[in-house]
Amino acid sequence: MPAYRPPRIPASDITPHHIYLSRRSFLGSAATAGLALAGGGGALAAPLAASPSSFKVNEPLTPKEAVTTYNNFYEFGVNKEDPSQNAGAFKPTPWSVKIDGMVGKPKVFGLEELMKIKQEERTYRMRCVEGWSMVIPWIGFPLAALLDQVEPLGSAKYVSFETVVRPEEMPGQGGFFQPLPWPYIEGLRLDEARHPLTILATGLYGETLPNQNGAPIRLVVPWKYGFKSIKSIVRISLVEKQPETTWKNSNAREYGFYSNVNPAVDHPRWSQATEQRIGEGGFFGAKRRATLPFNGYADQVASLYQGLDLKANY
Ligand code: MTE
Repeated sequence: MPAYRPPRIPASDITPHHIYLSRRSFLGSAATAGLALAGGGGALAAPLAASPSSFKVNEPLTPKEAVTTYNNFYEFGVNKEDPSQNAGAFKPTPWSVKIDGMVGKPKVFGLEELMKIKQEERTYRMRCVEGWSMVIPWIGFPLAALLDQVEPLGSAKYVSFETVVRPEEMPGQGGFFQPLPWPYIEGLRLDEARHPLTILATGLYGETLPNQNGAPIRLVVPWKYGFKSIKSIVRISLVEKQPETTWKNSNAREYGFYSNVNPAVDHPRWSQATEQRIGEGGFFGAKRRATLPFNGYADQVASLYQGLDLKANY
């Protein structure tokens, strides 16, 4: 991945934080009243449920404009503004996700069925490996709730994930220059996949997930660098051996399988000790924040890695 470049979000595009907060409380009350999710996915709407406070980071939300216009989704291009500009022709419905491998009940889930799993709001801190971070109110459900339905076998130790391949709808997959091999693939250990913080997200900011953020369903693993959070998933496989991952295959010296957020392990080309919270402070004079071990989720996840050398297993 290229080194960090400052966001190109005009200040005028960023709504003041208090307006976001008031919008959020509106969405919250709409949800309690049992209203549908906004956006194009009316048929997919599912009621929101209150989430436990441990799943809500108590830090200012990153403006929605920044969340939806500044990100990585190489299937739509390699620049931060490419996904929002090039994802308009992508069709997130109809959609299905195949779950196979070492499971008692392999199954193809239609999106409507996935939306029937109880959806919750989770406000997570997200840290990109390139040095920027955001706080995003996701909507989704624990991956464990889905895995339970297919009954993983005792031999299953890892979970691998695959993004859709559609060059006709994803310009980054169709051009002469191919930045990555497709499909984009990612993986987790089964215990990481089953951790209550790990969700499949179907929305953000109270709305159906925008195409550029991984519609209609993407992974969110908040204690790992952002590239683990694979988008537009079509296949989830339970496997015995550590799966291959796109970024490790592309550059194993720079990107490991674990990719836990770790201020003590530098990327070979830059420090991971600090981060810039997008939307905070503008271009100049923006104070970088200290990056926290496991992105601030150490209390919940550090025990998963007891006895593991996190410098060797980066
Ligand atoms: N998933 C796919 N399929 N393709 C990608 O290029 N980029 C990753 C991740 N998931 C990527 C992907 C990276 S590097 C980051 S930082 C996050 O998506 C950023 O997207 P978000 O802001 O919507 O979480």
